[in-house]
Formats: sequence, C-alpha cells, structure tokens
Amino acid sequence: MSILIFGASGQLGQALLASAEECQVQYVDVPRQVEVGDEASVMEVVRQHSPLWVINAAAMTNVDKAHTDVETAMSVNGLGAGNIASASTSVGARFIQISTEAVFDGKTKSKYVENDACSPVSVYGVSKLAGEHLSRILCERSYILRTSWLYSSRRGMNFPTRLLSQLDSSSREVPVVTDVIGNPTPTGVLARALFVLVENPPAYGTYHVCSRDSASKFEWATEIAATAGHDVGRIVGVNSDDYPTPAKRPRNVDLDASKFITTGVFGLPDWREAWASTSACSGGLHDSGPRKIHFSRPIYCSPNLFGHTHRISRGNCSVPLLSERTMKGMLREVTRLAIGLPQLPEPVHDLL
Ligand SMILES: NC(=O)c1ccc[n+]([C@@H]2O[C@H](COP(=O)([O-])OP(=O)(O)OC[C@H]3O[C@@H](n4cnc5c(N)ncnc54)[C@H](OP(=O)(O)O)[C@@H]3O)[C@@H](O)[C@H]2O)c1
Repeated sequence: MSILIFGASGQLGQALLASAEECQVQYVDVPRQVEVGDEASVMEVVRQHSPLWVINAAAMTNVDKAHTDVETAMSVNGLGAGNIASASTSVGARFIQISTEAVFDGKTKSKYVENDACSPVSVYGVSKLAGEHLSRILCERSYILRTSWLYSSRRGMNFPTRLLSQLDSSSREVPVVTDVIGNPTPTGVLARALFVLVENPPAYGTYHVCSRDSASKFEWATEIAATAGHDVGRIVGVNSDDYPTPAKRPRNVDLDASKFITTGVFGLPDWREAWASTSACSGGLHDSGPRKIHFSRPIYCSPNLFGHTHRISRGNCSVPLLSERTMKGMLREVTRLAIGLPQLPEPVHDLL
C-alpha cells in the first residue's frame, strides 16, 4: 500500500513519517517545493506516484499571519486542499484532509459534534473550512479529520515547547489564558490513529480525532510546568480580553470524538494521559529542534493558479479584519473556481 504525504516537514508530517516507518507502511513524502496551491504541480506529483491514499498535512497554520495574508491562507488551506482532493480523485486514491477546531466559533457550551454548524471567527478558520468543503466536493472517497491544539516534541512552534522555553529562560511569572478551551493532542496519537484508519477504513466523512476531554490553556500550562519540575505558581491565569491577538481564536471548542471512537478503530487517550506519555517519552518535551529530512525527489514548478485573473482576495492583503460578507464571498469564489462552475450547486450553497 502506498501513501502520499503532503506537509511532511511539519509537526504532524514528521509524526506521520515516524508512524509510517513504525507500521512499515510504504509512503512517499512530497517535497516542500510542491506548492499545494499550485494545481498543476499537485496533479503532477499525485499522478507520478499514483498512490492508494493521499494525506494532506500541509497548511498555513500561523493564525495571526493568515489574518493579514488572506490570499496565501486561502490558497494553501482552501485551494491547496481542493487541488489535492481533485488529484486524488483523478488516480482513484482515498484522501485524508486534516482540519481544525477553528472551523467552529467556540460559543457553544456543549461539545461540538461533526454536524454542528461551522462559523469560523478567523481567516485561518475560514480558509480551513474552504478546504473541507473543497475536499468533500472534489473527492467522494475523502475523510476530513478535525483535530485540536496539536503539539509534538520535534518542532519548536507549539504551546508546550514555547511555554517551557519561557519557563527555562527566566524566573518570571508567565500569563496564560483561562478562558480558551481545547483538546491538547499529541501529533503521535493523531498519526497512529490515521494509519489505523487507513488499515480499517470506516465510512467516508468527517471525524473529530483528538484527545478526549478538554482543558483550558491555563490548566494545560499548569500540567506542563508541573511535569517539567517548574513552580506551577509561576503560571498566572489571565482573561483573553486582556491579551488581544491580531486574529481571534474560538474561546471554547471541545471536540466530541465519539463518532471516531465508536468506529472501534482506535481508542483516543484523555489529554492528561496523552500529555504524560508524550512528555515522559521526550524528557519533559524540551525542543530538540526540527528533524532534518532529506528529499530525494525533484522540484516541481508550474504556473500558479493564482495568476492575475484568478485573484480572489481584494488585492490588499493587509485588510485587518474581513467582514463576514467578504469571507463568505471568498469561500464561494474559491469553491466556484475549483469546481469550474458558474453557479454553485444547491447542496454546496447550503454548506456556505
Ligand atoms: N498546530 C495545531 O495546533 C493544529 C490544530 C488543529 C489542526 N491543525 C491542522 O493540522 C495540520 C498539520 O498542522 P501542523 O501543526 O503539523 O502544521 P505545521 O507544523 O505548520 O506544518 C505545516 C506544513 O505545511 C507546509 N506548507 C505550508 N505552506 C505550504 C504550501 N504552500 N505548499 C506545501 N506545503 C506547505 C509547511 O512547510 P513550511 O514550514 O516549510 O512552510 C509544513 O511542512 C494542518 O492541517 C493544521 O491546519 C493544526
């Protein structure tokens, strides 16, 4: 069985490569030079390898950057997913798109199930939602796996590694928000769940795949500090209103993963168990720096789909905040562009 992996150099991508090795799965890691927003390059690499499965772990994940670089966010997270979905269909491959809790607004008090209405509060969330829609439209044999608060010991850009470096580098208190809730999920757990899914595929569709139970950033930070032997009193709870970020985050998203759990393919751990075992394996999760990957395959390049005639943003990428109308318009536009139809079919319209 061969699996093509986009985003192999990212934190989830690295865990996927490690799990593929462990599970002795035959895989191909797509070189970073293949821009996922570039339809022709994506098609070329997928057709070249003609895999049975394609996994898309590539994304623009910097939520604040996406806020000001809307065009790139939509190109990578929206069209990129669509390009890969469409290329997967063309070779008869099954497709797994990784998505996020950020497609929800976080205003619901109860857990979010897969069919709950999506209403992202950030450009990142909109772009990932566009990617979900395009994946479903362009590949019937697709899985959308939504996850939350990913972390790993291999890359520095995640919450535990950033927090630990702050705690290590000074003795000052560290403010952490108490009112933002999510499901801290190790990339290793998601990667293993994914390969178990590939071995025993459930029905196509959307699944939440994350640690069970939720935590506030503050609770998680306290656990991280305690595991690493720091004084937990240095973690000071604050309200997110007092620490504004350029892009909004959904406040309270607890993903309900029961649909995935009841498929029986993989038991997901509680976030504390997951944290305990991940940090134990990595000596307190101090960042060991990115693992170097050597790509042996050629560089792919071709004209970008976002030529001047296909620009979908308003041209000015530093728009501070998009109105709901503009975001929805972009979503429609990206969908229309990718499926090449002048009018969106009714079911797609409903999705928007
Ligand atoms: N991180 C989280 O907390 C979180 C939570 C929920 C869901 N997710 C989702 O999980 C998936 C994996 O996230 P992650 O944390 O592993 O992200 P990551 O570490 O930022 O990795 C993303 C990967 O995508 C690559 N990439 C970016 N732009 C690209 C482009 N135009 N063409 C091709 N590749 C491109 C990046 O390469 P460069 O680094 O070289 O740009 C990197 O290898 C994403 O779909 C993300 O939306 C993440």
